[in-house]
Amino acid sequence: MTTAAQTQTKREGDISDSFVSLSGTARPPLPQKFLELKKTLVHGLENHVIDSWNRLLAELKRENKTIAEGGPAVIPSVSFKSLDKDLAKFRGEIEKRGVAVIRGVLPEDEARSFKYEIEEYVRQNPQTKAFPPHDPQVYELYWSAPQLRARAHPNLLKVQVALMKLWRTSDPESPISTSQPLSYADRLRIRQPGDASFALGPHIDGGSVERWELNGYGRGGVYDKIFEGSWEEYDPWDASTRVSAVVDNYNGLGACSMFRMFQGWLSMSTTQPFEGTLMVTPAIKLSTAYLLLRPFFRPIKDLGQASPEAYLAAENWEYAGADMTSELHGATPGHGQELDDILHPHLDLGNTMVHVPNIKPGDYVIWHCDSIHAVDKVHKGKSDSSVLYIPVCPLTEMNARYLVRQRDAFLNGTPGPDFPGGRGEADHINRQTQLHLRSYATTDGLRAFGFERLVADATDTSGAKAITSMANEILGF
Ligand SMILES: [Fe+2]
Repeated sequence: MTTAAQTQTKREGDISDSFVSLSGTARPPLPQKFLELKKTLVHGLENHVIDSWNRLLAELKRENKTIAEGGPAVIPSVSFKSLDKDLAKFRGEIEKRGVAVIRGVLPEDEARSFKYEIEEYVRQNPQTKAFPPHDPQVYELYWSAPQLRARAHPNLLKVQVALMKLWRTSDPESPISTSQPLSYADRLRIRQPGDASFALGPHIDGGSVERWELNGYGRGGVYDKIFEGSWEEYDPWDASTRVSAVVDNYNGLGACSMFRMFQGWLSMSTTQPFEGTLMVTPAIKLSTAYLLLRPFFRPIKDLGQASPEAYLAAENWEYAGADMTSELHGATPGHGQELDDILHPHLDLGNTMVHVPNIKPGDYVIWHCDSIHAVDKVHKGKSDSSVLYIPVCPLTEMNARYLVRQRDAFLNGTPGPDFPGGRGEADHINRQTQLHLRSYATTDGLRAFGFERLVADATDTSGAKAITSMANEILGF
Protein backbone atom coordinates (compact mmCIF):
# COMPACT_ATOMS: atom_id res chain seq x y z
CA MET A 1 0.00 0.00 0.00
CA THR A 2 1.31 3.40 -0.88
CA THR A 3 -0.30 6.55 0.43
CA ALA A 4 0.05 9.99 -1.04
CA ALA A 5 1.89 10.98 2.11
CA GLN A 6 4.57 8.37 1.51
CA THR A 7 5.55 9.54 -1.92
CA GLN A 8 5.93 13.26 -1.35
CA THR A 9 9.23 14.84 -0.54
CA LYS A 10 9.28 16.98 2.59
CA ARG A 11 10.52 20.47 3.10
CA GLU A 12 13.45 21.25 5.39
CA GLY A 13 12.78 21.55 9.11
CA ASP A 14 13.44 20.06 12.52
CA ILE A 15 11.64 18.26 15.33
CA SER A 16 9.63 21.39 16.25
CA ASP A 17 7.60 20.91 13.06
CA SER A 18 6.14 17.68 14.41
CA PHE A 19 4.22 19.19 17.32
CA VAL A 20 2.00 22.25 17.48
CA SER A 21 3.24 23.12 20.97
CA LEU A 22 6.91 23.13 19.86
CA SER A 23 6.20 25.16 16.73
CA GLY A 24 4.73 27.97 18.83
CA THR A 25 1.52 28.31 16.82
CA ALA A 26 -2.07 28.00 18.06
CA ARG A 27 -4.04 24.84 17.38
CA PRO A 28 -6.84 25.73 14.96
CA PRO A 29 -10.33 24.19 15.33
CA LEU A 30 -10.77 21.04 13.28
CA PRO A 31 -12.86 21.09 10.09
CA GLN A 32 -16.51 19.98 10.21
CA LYS A 33 -15.69 16.66 8.58
CA PHE A 34 -14.37 15.49 11.95
CA LEU A 35 -17.74 16.12 13.57
CA GLU A 36 -19.37 13.93 10.91
CA LEU A 37 -16.70 11.32 11.55
CA LYS A 38 -17.37 11.33 15.30
CA LYS A 39 -21.09 10.87 14.76
CA THR A 40 -20.46 8.01 12.34
CA LEU A 41 -18.12 6.20 14.70
CA VAL A 42 -20.64 5.81 17.52
CA HIS A 43 -23.90 5.91 15.55
CA GLY A 44 -26.44 3.59 17.16
CA LEU A 45 -23.95 2.65 19.88
CA GLU A 46 -24.29 5.77 22.01
CA ASN A 47 -25.69 4.01 25.08
CA HIS A 48 -22.95 1.38 25.02
CA VAL A 49 -20.33 4.09 24.71
CA ILE A 50 -21.79 6.05 27.62
CA ASP A 51 -21.82 2.95 29.87
CA SER A 52 -18.27 2.10 28.85
CA TRP A 53 -17.11 5.64 29.58
CA ASN A 54 -18.45 5.38 33.11
CA ARG A 55 -16.71 2.04 33.65
CA LEU A 56 -13.52 3.56 32.26
CA LEU A 57 -13.58 6.54 34.63
CA ALA A 58 -13.96 4.20 37.61
CA GLU A 59 -11.08 2.00 36.46
CA LEU A 60 -8.86 5.00 35.70
CA LYS A 61 -9.41 6.37 39.19
CA ARG A 62 -8.19 3.08 40.71
CA GLU A 63 -5.24 2.64 38.37
CA ASN A 64 -4.12 6.27 38.58
CA LYS A 65 -3.69 5.80 42.33
CA THR A 66 -1.55 2.68 41.87
CA ILE A 67 0.67 4.44 39.33
CA ALA A 68 1.03 7.65 41.32
CA GLU A 69 2.02 5.68 44.42
CA GLY A 70 4.39 3.34 42.57
CA GLY A 71 6.16 5.95 40.43
CA PRO A 72 9.09 4.70 38.31
CA ALA A 73 8.94 1.36 40.15
CA VAL A 74 5.83 0.34 38.16
CA ILE A 75 7.91 0.25 34.97
CA PRO A 76 9.26 -3.27 34.46
CA SER A 77 13.01 -3.75 33.92
CA VAL A 78 14.40 -6.85 32.28
CA SER A 79 18.00 -7.87 31.79
CA PHE A 80 19.52 -8.55 28.39
CA LYS A 81 21.55 -11.35 29.97
CA SER A 82 18.39 -13.25 30.92
CA LEU A 83 16.15 -11.80 28.22
CA ASP A 84 13.86 -14.74 27.47
CA LYS A 85 13.40 -15.69 31.10
CA ASP A 86 12.74 -12.10 32.17
CA LEU A 87 10.35 -11.37 29.32
CA ALA A 88 8.36 -14.49 30.19
CA LYS A 89 8.27 -13.42 33.83
CA PHE A 90 7.30 -9.79 33.19
CA ARG A 91 5.13 -10.32 30.15
CA GLY A 92 1.89 -9.52 31.99
CA GLU A 93 3.34 -6.34 33.46
CA ILE A 94 4.75 -5.17 30.14
CA GLU A 95 1.38 -5.80 28.47
CA LYS A 96 -0.36 -3.77 31.14
CA ARG A 97 2.20 -0.96 31.31
CA GLY A 98 3.19 -0.75 27.65
CA VAL A 99 6.70 0.29 28.63
CA ALA A 100 9.86 -1.48 29.75
CA VAL A 101 13.60 -1.06 30.22
CA ILE A 102 15.96 -3.69 28.82
CA ARG A 103 19.18 -3.43 30.80
CA GLY A 104 22.63 -3.81 29.31
CA VAL A 105 21.78 -4.37 25.65
CA LEU A 106 25.11 -2.80 24.68
CA PRO A 107 28.21 -2.67 26.89
CA GLU A 108 28.18 0.54 28.92
CA ASP A 109 31.56 1.82 27.63
CA GLU A 110 30.65 1.23 24.02
CA ALA A 111 27.32 3.05 24.32
CA ARG A 112 28.94 5.99 26.11
CA SER A 113 31.67 6.24 23.49
CA PHE A 114 28.95 6.66 20.86
CA LYS A 115 28.12 10.06 22.33
CA TYR A 116 31.69 11.31 22.04
CA GLU A 117 31.92 9.98 18.52
CA ILE A 118 28.77 11.83 17.50
CA GLU A 119 30.07 15.06 19.02
CA GLU A 120 33.23 14.64 16.96
CA TYR A 121 31.11 14.05 13.82
CA VAL A 122 29.25 17.30 14.55
CA ARG A 123 32.55 19.16 15.04
CA GLN A 124 33.76 17.87 11.70
CA ASN A 125 30.48 18.95 10.09
CA PRO A 126 29.50 22.33 11.52
CA GLN A 127 26.67 22.64 8.97
CA THR A 128 24.75 19.94 10.91
CA LYS A 129 21.19 21.11 11.61
CA ALA A 130 19.67 20.80 15.07
CA PHE A 131 16.85 21.92 17.35
CA PRO A 132 17.05 24.56 18.63
CA PRO A 133 19.60 25.95 16.16
CA HIS A 134 21.37 28.21 18.69
CA ASP A 135 21.72 25.58 21.42
CA PRO A 136 21.44 22.10 19.85
CA GLN A 137 19.71 19.32 21.75
CA VAL A 138 18.19 17.18 18.98
CA TYR A 139 20.33 16.73 15.88
CA GLU A 140 19.20 16.23 12.31
CA LEU A 141 21.52 13.24 12.06
CA TYR A 142 20.45 9.88 10.70
CA TRP A 143 23.56 8.26 9.29
CA SER A 144 26.38 8.72 11.82
CA ALA A 145 28.54 5.69 12.57
CA PRO A 146 27.15 5.15 16.11
CA GLN A 147 23.57 5.23 14.81
CA LEU A 148 24.36 2.64 12.17
CA ARG A 149 26.34 0.43 14.53
CA ALA A 150 23.58 0.54 17.14
CA ARG A 151 20.81 -0.22 14.63
CA ALA A 152 22.79 -3.13 13.23
CA HIS A 153 24.00 -4.45 16.60
CA PRO A 154 23.18 -8.17 17.03
CA ASN A 155 22.11 -7.64 20.66
CA LEU A 156 19.68 -4.92 19.68
CA LEU A 157 18.24 -7.00 16.84
CA LYS A 158 17.81 -9.92 19.24
CA VAL A 159 15.92 -7.70 21.69
CA GLN A 160 13.73 -6.33 18.90
CA VAL A 161 12.66 -9.81 17.81
CA ALA A 162 11.90 -10.83 21.41
CA LEU A 163 9.84 -7.67 21.92
CA MET A 164 7.89 -8.13 18.69
CA LYS A 165 6.92 -11.62 19.91
CA LEU A 166 4.99 -9.94 22.75
CA TRP A 167 2.47 -8.97 20.07
CA ARG A 168 -0.17 -11.37 18.76
CA THR A 169 -1.58 -11.90 15.29
CA SER A 170 -5.26 -12.75 15.77
CA ASP A 171 -5.37 -13.65 12.07
CA PRO A 172 -2.50 -15.98 11.04
CA GLU A 173 -3.00 -14.85 7.45
CA SER A 174 -2.12 -11.25 8.36
CA PRO A 175 0.79 -10.15 6.16
CA ILE A 176 3.19 -9.32 8.98
CA SER A 177 6.37 -10.93 10.27
CA THR A 178 7.60 -10.43 13.81
CA SER A 179 10.70 -12.52 13.12
CA GLN A 180 12.27 -9.87 10.91
CA PRO A 181 12.96 -6.46 12.46
CA LEU A 182 13.34 -3.59 10.01
CA SER A 183 15.58 -0.66 10.72
CA TYR A 184 14.11 2.85 11.01
CA ALA A 185 16.50 5.75 10.68
CA ASP A 186 15.51 8.25 13.36
CA ARG A 187 17.35 11.14 15.02
CA LEU A 188 19.37 11.39 18.21
CA ARG A 189 19.38 13.59 21.27
CA ILE A 190 22.30 14.97 23.24
CA ARG A 191 20.49 17.10 25.79
CA GLN A 192 22.57 19.43 27.90
CA PRO A 193 22.03 20.06 31.64
CA GLY A 194 19.67 22.98 32.21
CA ASP A 195 18.02 22.69 28.82
CA ALA A 196 14.35 23.71 28.79
CA SER A 197 13.89 24.12 25.04
CA PHE A 198 13.25 20.46 24.19
CA ALA A 199 10.30 20.45 26.57
CA LEU A 200 7.99 18.17 24.66
CA GLY A 201 4.90 17.63 26.82
CA PRO A 202 2.63 14.57 26.94
CA HIS A 203 2.06 13.27 23.42
CA ILE A 204 1.61 10.22 21.24
CA ASP A 205 3.39 9.75 17.94
CA GLY A 206 2.08 7.79 15.00
CA GLY A 207 -0.41 10.39 13.83
CA SER A 208 -3.25 12.09 15.65
CA VAL A 209 -6.64 12.41 13.92
CA GLU A 210 -5.79 9.19 12.08
CA ARG A 211 -6.66 7.26 15.26
CA TRP A 212 -10.32 8.15 14.67
CA GLU A 213 -10.29 8.20 10.87
CA LEU A 214 -11.88 5.35 8.92
CA ASN A 215 -9.10 5.68 6.34
CA GLY A 216 -6.50 5.87 9.12
CA TYR A 217 -6.30 3.33 11.94
CA GLY A 218 -9.92 2.51 11.07
CA ARG A 219 -8.72 0.61 8.00
CA GLY A 220 -7.71 -2.23 10.26
CA GLY A 221 -10.39 -1.61 12.86
CA VAL A 222 -7.66 -1.08 15.45
CA TYR A 223 -9.90 0.67 17.98
CA ASP A 224 -13.32 -0.70 16.94
CA LYS A 225 -13.93 -2.26 20.36
CA ILE A 226 -13.40 1.11 22.03
CA PHE A 227 -15.78 2.95 19.70
CA GLU A 228 -18.34 0.14 20.14
CA GLY A 229 -18.41 0.71 23.88
CA SER A 230 -16.40 -2.34 24.96
CA TRP A 231 -12.94 -1.02 25.66
CA GLU A 232 -12.29 -3.98 27.98
CA GLU A 233 -12.17 -6.22 24.89
CA TYR A 234 -9.72 -3.97 23.07
CA ASP A 235 -6.35 -5.70 22.62
CA PRO A 236 -3.50 -3.19 22.27
CA TRP A 237 -1.21 -6.08 21.28
CA ASP A 238 -3.07 -7.47 18.28
CA ALA A 239 -0.80 -6.81 15.33
CA SER A 240 -3.33 -8.07 12.78
CA THR A 241 -5.48 -4.98 13.10
CA ARG A 242 -2.50 -2.65 12.62
CA VAL A 243 -1.16 -4.04 9.36
CA SER A 244 -3.44 -2.01 7.13
CA ALA A 245 -3.71 1.05 9.39
CA VAL A 246 -2.54 4.34 7.88
CA VAL A 247 -0.86 6.50 10.50
CA ASP A 248 -0.01 9.57 8.42
CA ASN A 249 -2.73 10.94 6.15
CA TYR A 250 -1.45 14.53 6.13
CA ASN A 251 2.23 14.28 5.20
CA GLY A 252 3.30 15.50 8.63
CA LEU A 253 6.92 16.48 9.10
CA GLY A 254 8.50 13.87 11.31
CA ALA A 255 5.34 11.77 11.44
CA CYS A 256 6.37 8.12 11.28
CA SER A 257 4.72 6.30 8.40
CA MET A 258 6.26 2.97 9.33
CA PHE A 259 4.37 0.71 11.73
CA ARG A 260 6.44 0.82 14.91
CA MET A 261 5.33 -1.78 17.46
CA PHE A 262 7.41 0.07 20.01
CA GLN A 263 9.15 3.35 20.05
CA GLY A 264 12.46 3.21 21.78
CA TRP A 265 15.77 4.72 22.57
CA LEU A 266 19.17 3.36 23.34
CA SER A 267 20.79 5.35 26.11
CA MET A 268 24.25 6.84 25.72
CA SER A 269 24.23 8.42 29.19
CA THR A 270 23.44 7.91 32.86
CA THR A 271 20.20 9.58 33.89
CA GLN A 272 17.82 9.64 36.81
CA PRO A 273 14.28 10.99 36.90
CA PHE A 274 14.21 14.77 36.22
CA GLU A 275 17.51 14.59 34.35
CA GLY A 276 16.11 15.20 30.90
CA THR A 277 14.68 11.72 30.59
CA LEU A 278 11.44 10.05 29.44
CA MET A 279 8.11 10.06 31.19
CA VAL A 280 5.23 7.72 30.30
CA THR A 281 1.68 6.98 31.33
CA PRO A 282 2.10 3.28 32.12
CA ALA A 283 -1.47 2.08 31.52
CA ILE A 284 -1.66 1.40 27.82
CA LYS A 285 -5.20 0.07 27.48
CA LEU A 286 -6.84 2.60 29.80
CA SER A 287 -5.03 5.64 28.47
CA THR A 288 -5.81 4.70 24.86
CA ALA A 289 -9.49 4.11 25.60
CA TYR A 290 -9.74 7.43 27.45
CA LEU A 291 -7.99 9.44 24.80
CA LEU A 292 -10.27 8.07 22.08
CA LEU A 293 -13.55 8.45 23.98
CA ARG A 294 -12.84 11.85 25.51
CA PRO A 295 -14.01 13.86 22.44
CA PHE A 296 -17.50 12.36 22.76
CA PHE A 297 -18.05 13.71 26.28
CA ARG A 298 -18.17 17.07 27.99
CA PRO A 299 -18.34 18.37 31.55
CA ILE A 300 -21.70 19.64 32.82
CA LYS A 301 -20.02 22.04 35.24
CA ASP A 302 -16.68 23.55 34.32
CA LEU A 303 -13.71 23.46 36.64
CA GLY A 304 -14.39 27.01 37.82
CA GLN A 305 -17.93 26.03 38.87
CA ALA A 306 -17.04 22.82 40.69
CA SER A 307 -14.35 21.49 43.02
CA PRO A 308 -11.68 19.41 41.27
CA GLU A 309 -13.23 16.25 42.67
CA ALA A 310 -16.78 17.19 41.64
CA TYR A 311 -15.49 18.25 38.22
CA LEU A 312 -13.96 14.84 37.60
CA ALA A 313 -16.89 12.84 39.03
CA ALA A 314 -18.64 10.65 36.43
CA GLU A 315 -21.95 12.42 37.20
CA ASN A 316 -20.44 15.67 35.92
CA TRP A 317 -19.70 14.24 32.45
CA GLU A 318 -22.27 13.71 29.75
CA TYR A 319 -22.37 12.46 26.20
CA ALA A 320 -22.01 15.60 24.07
CA GLY A 321 -24.86 14.55 21.75
CA ALA A 322 -26.33 17.41 19.70
CA ASP A 323 -23.68 19.78 21.08
CA MET A 324 -20.80 17.66 19.88
CA THR A 325 -18.07 19.64 18.10
CA SER A 326 -15.45 18.63 15.58
CA GLU A 327 -12.82 18.67 18.31
CA LEU A 328 -10.58 15.62 18.78
CA HIS A 329 -8.87 16.84 21.91
CA GLY A 330 -5.19 17.49 21.19
CA ALA A 331 -5.26 16.09 17.65
CA THR A 332 -4.12 18.26 14.72
CA PRO A 333 -3.74 16.91 11.17
CA GLY A 334 -0.10 16.52 10.22
CA HIS A 335 1.10 16.72 13.82
CA GLY A 336 1.56 14.38 16.77
CA GLN A 337 -1.27 13.91 19.25
CA GLU A 338 -0.80 16.11 22.32
CA LEU A 339 -2.40 15.74 25.73
CA ASP A 340 -2.80 17.95 28.75
CA ASP A 341 -4.67 18.29 32.03
CA ILE A 342 -7.37 20.52 30.57
CA LEU A 343 -8.12 18.35 27.56
CA HIS A 344 -7.65 15.04 29.38
CA PRO A 345 -8.36 15.69 33.05
CA HIS A 346 -9.17 12.10 34.10
CA LEU A 347 -5.71 10.91 33.12
CA ASP A 348 -4.31 12.99 36.00
CA LEU A 349 -1.15 13.37 33.93
CA GLY A 350 0.60 15.40 36.61
CA ASN A 351 0.66 12.31 38.82
CA THR A 352 0.46 9.40 36.39
CA MET A 353 3.17 10.34 33.93
CA VAL A 354 6.02 8.61 35.68
CA HIS A 355 9.72 8.78 34.90
CA VAL A 356 11.57 5.78 33.62
CA PRO A 357 13.88 4.55 36.40
CA ASN A 358 17.63 5.22 36.52
CA ILE A 359 19.18 4.49 33.16
CA LYS A 360 22.77 3.65 32.14
CA PRO A 361 24.49 3.77 28.76
CA GLY A 362 23.53 0.67 26.79
CA ASP A 363 20.05 0.35 28.35
CA TYR A 364 17.21 0.22 25.85
CA VAL A 365 13.89 1.86 26.80
CA ILE A 366 10.83 0.88 24.78
CA TRP A 367 7.21 1.97 24.85
CA HIS A 368 4.10 0.79 22.98
CA CYS A 369 3.31 2.87 19.89
CA ASP A 370 0.16 4.24 21.59
CA SER A 371 1.84 5.14 24.91
CA ILE A 372 1.50 8.70 26.11
CA HIS A 373 4.99 9.99 26.74
CA ALA A 374 6.90 13.20 27.39
CA VAL A 375 10.35 14.55 28.01
CA ASP A 376 11.36 16.25 31.28
CA LYS A 377 10.50 19.93 30.87
CA VAL A 378 13.83 20.97 32.32
CA HIS A 379 16.96 18.85 32.44
CA LYS A 380 17.99 19.27 36.08
CA GLY A 381 20.94 16.89 35.97
CA LYS A 382 24.65 17.70 35.82
CA SER A 383 25.56 15.67 32.77
CA ASP A 384 24.11 15.18 29.29
CA SER A 385 21.00 13.10 28.65
CA SER A 386 21.77 11.39 25.37
CA VAL A 387 19.89 8.78 23.37
CA LEU A 388 19.68 7.24 19.94
CA TYR A 389 16.02 6.93 18.90
CA ILE A 390 15.56 3.37 17.65
CA PRO A 391 12.04 1.95 17.35
CA VAL A 392 10.97 -1.69 16.88
CA CYS A 393 9.47 -2.25 13.42
CA PRO A 394 8.09 -5.52 12.07
CA LEU A 395 8.02 -6.58 8.43
CA THR A 396 4.85 -5.44 6.66
CA GLU A 397 4.23 -4.34 3.10
CA MET A 398 4.08 -0.68 4.13
CA ASN A 399 7.30 -1.02 6.12
CA ALA A 400 9.09 -2.81 3.30
CA ARG A 401 8.11 -0.06 0.85
CA TYR A 402 9.39 2.53 3.29
CA LEU A 403 12.62 0.57 3.69
CA VAL A 404 13.26 0.81 -0.05
CA ARG A 405 13.03 4.59 0.08
CA GLN A 406 15.03 4.75 3.30
CA ARG A 407 17.74 2.59 1.70
CA ASP A 408 17.99 5.14 -1.13
CA ALA A 409 18.17 7.96 1.42
CA PHE A 410 21.00 6.16 3.21
CA LEU A 411 22.96 5.73 -0.02
CA ASN A 412 22.45 9.45 -0.76
CA GLY A 413 23.08 10.63 2.80
CA THR A 414 19.75 12.44 2.98
CA PRO A 415 17.20 12.15 5.83
CA GLY A 416 14.79 9.20 5.73
CA PRO A 417 11.54 9.78 3.78
CA ASP A 418 9.50 10.65 6.89
CA PHE A 419 11.80 13.45 7.97
CA PRO A 420 12.37 17.06 6.92
CA GLY A 421 14.22 17.01 3.60
CA GLY A 422 17.23 18.84 2.25
CA ARG A 423 20.84 17.72 1.72
CA GLY A 424 21.04 16.27 5.21
CA GLU A 425 24.41 14.56 5.63
CA ALA A 426 25.06 14.19 1.91
CA ASP A 427 28.18 16.34 2.15
CA HIS A 428 29.20 15.32 5.68
CA ILE A 429 32.72 14.14 6.37
CA ASN A 430 32.81 10.58 7.75
CA ARG A 431 29.22 9.76 6.91
CA GLN A 432 28.65 6.01 6.80
CA THR A 433 28.42 4.22 3.50
CA GLN A 434 27.18 0.76 2.59
CA LEU A 435 30.80 -0.43 2.73
CA HIS A 436 31.11 0.73 6.31
CA LEU A 437 27.85 -0.97 7.22
CA ARG A 438 28.93 -4.22 5.61
CA SER A 439 32.18 -4.17 7.61
CA TYR A 440 30.38 -4.54 10.95
CA ALA A 441 26.80 -5.69 10.32
CA THR A 442 25.87 -9.37 10.44
CA THR A 443 23.57 -10.83 7.79
CA ASP A 444 20.64 -10.13 10.13
CA GLY A 445 21.76 -6.54 10.40
CA LEU A 446 22.02 -6.16 6.64
CA ARG A 447 18.54 -7.66 6.27
CA ALA A 448 17.15 -5.07 8.65
CA PHE A 449 18.58 -2.34 6.39
CA GLY A 450 17.25 -3.93 3.20
CA PHE A 451 20.65 -4.98 1.91
CA GLU A 452 20.16 -8.75 2.06
CA ARG A 453 17.40 -11.11 1.00
CA LEU A 454 14.94 -11.80 3.82
CA VAL A 455 14.33 -15.35 5.05
CA ALA A 456 11.20 -16.60 6.81
CA ASP A 457 11.50 -18.39 10.13
CA ALA A 458 10.28 -21.98 10.46
CA THR A 459 7.86 -20.91 13.18
CA ASP A 460 6.39 -18.07 11.08
CA THR A 461 2.65 -17.85 10.37
CA SER A 462 1.47 -18.32 6.80
CA GLY A 463 0.95 -14.56 6.62
CA ALA A 464 4.54 -13.95 7.77
CA LYS A 465 5.89 -16.31 5.13
CA ALA A 466 3.82 -14.62 2.43
CA ILE A 467 4.94 -11.11 3.37
CA THR A 468 8.58 -12.23 3.48
CA SER A 469 8.33 -13.33 -0.17
CA MET A 470 6.52 -10.16 -1.15
CA ALA A 471 9.04 -7.97 0.68
CA ASN A 472 11.89 -9.62 -1.20
CA GLU A 473 10.20 -8.58 -4.43
CA ILE A 474 9.66 -5.05 -3.14
CA LEU A 475 13.30 -4.87 -2.06
CA GLY A 476 14.47 -6.17 -5.41
CA PHE A 477 15.71 -9.65 -4.36
FE1 LIG B 1 7.49 11.00 20.98
